[in-house]
This record gives sequence, structure tokens and C-alpha cells, in this order.
Amino acid sequence: MPTRPFTAPRPTEYAHVPPAVTAKNAPTDLPPGPRPRIPGQLLYRFQKDTPAFLLDLRDTYGPASSFFLNGQLFIGLFSPAMVHEVTVAQQSAFVKGVGFERMRKVLGTGLLTNEEPIHLRHRRMMQPPFHKSRLDDYARQMSDLSRAAVDAWPSRGTINIAPEMMRLTLLIVARTLFGTDADRHTERIAESMEIAIDRIERTMLPGLDRLDGMPLPYWRKFKQASDELAEIAEDLIIERRASGSDGDDLLGLLLALRDEDGSAFTDEEVRDEALTLILSGHETTANALTWAFSWLGTRPDVFAALRAEALALPWITSDQAPTIEDVMSTEVAGQVVAESLRMAPPVWVAPRRALRNVDVCGVQVPAGAHVLVSQYVTHRDPEYFPNPLTWEPSRWTPQLHSSLPRGAYFPFGAGTRKCLGDQFALLESRIILLHAAARHRLLPMDSLHPLPKAEPRATYRAKGPAPMRVA
Ligand code: HEM
Repeated sequence: MPTRPFTAPRPTEYAHVPPAVTAKNAPTDLPPGPRPRIPGQLLYRFQKDTPAFLLDLRDTYGPASSFFLNGQLFIGLFSPAMVHEVTVAQQSAFVKGVGFERMRKVLGTGLLTNEEPIHLRHRRMMQPPFHKSRLDDYARQMSDLSRAAVDAWPSRGTINIAPEMMRLTLLIVARTLFGTDADRHTERIAESMEIAIDRIERTMLPGLDRLDGMPLPYWRKFKQASDELAEIAEDLIIERRASGSDGDDLLGLLLALRDEDGSAFTDEEVRDEALTLILSGHETTANALTWAFSWLGTRPDVFAALRAEALALPWITSDQAPTIEDVMSTEVAGQVVAESLRMAPPVWVAPRRALRNVDVCGVQVPAGAHVLVSQYVTHRDPEYFPNPLTWEPSRWTPQLHSSLPRGAYFPFGAGTRKCLGDQFALLESRIILLHAAARHRLLPMDSLHPLPKAEPRATYRAKGPAPMRVA
């Protein structure tokens, strides 16, 4: 019986995380921040809308601020230089923070949740399947699946864009990962992923893990979903090994991967990496696209430019397969994706824990402190993005790309923890947008409230199904 992620202990190789800093043992030279007399007030504001809370901190206290939640010290670091220090220059002083323990209950020692020294070995091994040379093949599959999906949309009426995107991106990542082997499991994967994502997401608050493991249906369902996902992945691995074929997909590559010393992943490691790619590879892209379609519905001029771009592409108008160059040279689609990732970064915060005392651009961060850098906040810095609250794809000129300082725009994170699937996601997003724009015009249902409300959880998602009118 394999060890399942849900019950697996924290690997002993990981670094020891110092205890949280409390108000009693906090240093006196903390950056400024709210210190309400009734701590619950802060908790309420934080929980109600965390991105807005963090943005407000930056606007009130500047690029560095501190506050206490459930008695534990948090430090927000929001200038591009600080982001760069935390995610790149001094990344070894930090480990992933609040929320990731829970995520490990589904993803085990997959790349997203793994820590050093195991993470770097896995990262080295996992790089080749995401090399440029593999992306042409993925582009062909993405294009075929996207064309089929948008062809099935009604030509008039309503579609719920959020679940539609979730289904399509899940199908794409499951196909590229497992080939057609996964098709008969897609529904079970989708159901269990939904429960797992829901349970993972309620975790930005430290101390909540005290309730974990209580005999409640909420928790039991979480375990069932995690075990179900593990079981599906294990079955697919066993079948693949038994078939003796490598399979021309990511699973085949994962099974064949060798480290420099010739060692391979164990089946449990392959399972965790496969589940990690499924989870991190679909929800994020689906959210980005839901926002992109919603904004496009409000901007006929940008939509017209996107549609004209799509209709001039032979791989959109005929059944041809695109290469990465074909896709990545599309200007308008690139701008729409870049701007949507700026305003609604699917990963809107990167929680970290300081392993030792660190100086970040003059801010003294004590060992054990929770540190938050936030894409949502830093991407709204008016110094780099004039009119930061306006969705304006045309701002993404080559000059803007080359003039941004490090840490100003980081939808995919940075450093050794940077997203492994960034090129995959950019490719997929452009392909889906272009196929859709060539065939359909999506408009808001309610022109007075054209955008869905946000429901920021572990990812920055739209609240509800985000219905749109197909014209
Ligand atoms: C628009 C879509 C996506 C966004 C915005 C996004 C964003 C991110 C971010 C910000 C991180 C770093 C998290 C942190 O530092 O705490 C990350 C990590 C990761 N992402 Fe993505 N991602 C996207 C799509 C994908 C796709 C399509 C895949 C795979 C097919 C993927 C696989 C991963 C993996 C494996 C990691 C962990 C990397 C490591 O720590 O070594 N992501 N992603």
C-alpha cells in the first residue's frame, strides 16, 4: 500500500521552520502597520477580501508593513526590489508559507509543495518535459481541443465561462499528461479536484490547521478526494508500466526521467508530480481566461483587434497545427493575456516563512515571520503601470516589457520556485482566446455590472459561473 499524500508526514529532509513570531517576542523595529485594540477587527478585514486588505496596507504604510493575525507576525513586502530579494536574491532564507502544508495533503512532494533539498532535484529532472522542443507538440493538442470546445458553444444564448474554461484547461492538461488514458477518468478527476481545491483554499489564516483532522464531513470529504486523486494517478501509472510503452505524453516522460546519477522517480514521486501538474496546470489558466473574456466583453475595440488577428492566422481558419512561434508572435492575444495576468494574477500572493533573520532592502525580517509578497499589489503600482486599475492591453509595448525593473511584474513567480508551466500557460491562453474570438463574440449579461465579482482564495477567481451572452 503506497503512502498517500493526505497522511504522509512532513519529510525529515526539509529544513526546520522556526516558531512563529508573536507580539510578545517580536522585535521593536518592525515596519509600520495596523495595531487595532480589538484584534478581531483586522481578522475580519483580512478574511473578507485579502487582496484589498494588502493593497490598502501598501497605500497606507508604503512598501513594507507589518501586522498580527491570530497572534502571529506578518510582514508585507511590496516594492519590486523587495519582491526580487524574497523570490530570487535571498530565496534560500525562505520556505513556502501558510497554505502550503494543506496543499501537501493533495500534492505530496510534487514541485509546488516540495521544499529543499528535495525540490531542486525534482526541478532539475522536471525541466526537460517543459523545454521548448516539447511545446510544439502541446500546441497542436491545445489547438485541436480548443477548436472542438469553442465549436460546441451555442451560436446564440448564454455560456458560463468560468466552468467552461475550467473544463477545457483540465482536459488539455490531462491529455498532455496522460494522453487519452485519462479520458475515462476526467469526470472523477474534475469532481475530486474541485473538493480538494475548495479545502486547500481556506487556509490563508495561520492557526486554522489546529482544526484539521477533526471528525467532520468537511474533513472526511477532503481526505476522500485526495485519496481518490492519488488512486487514479496510481492506476494510470500501473497500467502504463504494464503496457510496456512509454507513451508520447508527459507521464511517459516522467517515468523515463533520470537524475544525473541515473536514479529515477519512484512511482509515488511520479504520482505527486502528475497531480501537481494537473492542479497547478488548469485552475490558474482557467481563471486568467475567465477574466480575460470578461474584460474583452467590455472592450469592443480590443475584441475587434483580437478577432482580426485570429482570422488572419491559417492555423485558426484551417485545421493546421500551430508551432510555438506561430502562437507566440500574436501581438494582440499576447497583450490581452499579459494585461489580464497583471490585473487578475491567478496566483495573487506568495506566502513565505523566514528561516532565519533576514535584511530585505533595510527591513529586518525575524526568523519565523510570515512574509507576503503579492502579485496583486505590486502589479498595481502606479509608478510602473499608469492608471493601474484600468484594463488596458495596449500598455504592453516592447518598451514596457524591457523597462520594468525585476520584481515589478511576476505573475509566474520568480527564482527557483518560478512556475514550471509558464510557457505552457501562455501558449494555451493565447490559443484558446484566438479560437474563441474567431468564432464567437462574448458579451456581458448585465452591461451595468459587466465584470464578475472576485472571489480571491488560493487563486484569484471569479465568483460564480460568470455567465456571458454569446452573440
Ligand atoms: C496562467 C497560468 C499560471 C499561473 C499564473 C501560474 C503561476 C505560478 C506561480 C506564481 C508559481 C509560484 C508559486 C510560489 O512561488 O509560491 C507557480 C508554480 C508552479 N506552476 Fe504555475 N502557473 C500557471 C500555470 C501553470 C501550468 C499550466 C503548469 C503546468 C502544466 C504549472 C505548473 C507549476 C508548477 C509545477 C509550479 C511549482 C514550481 C516549483 O516550485 O518548482 N503552472 N505557478
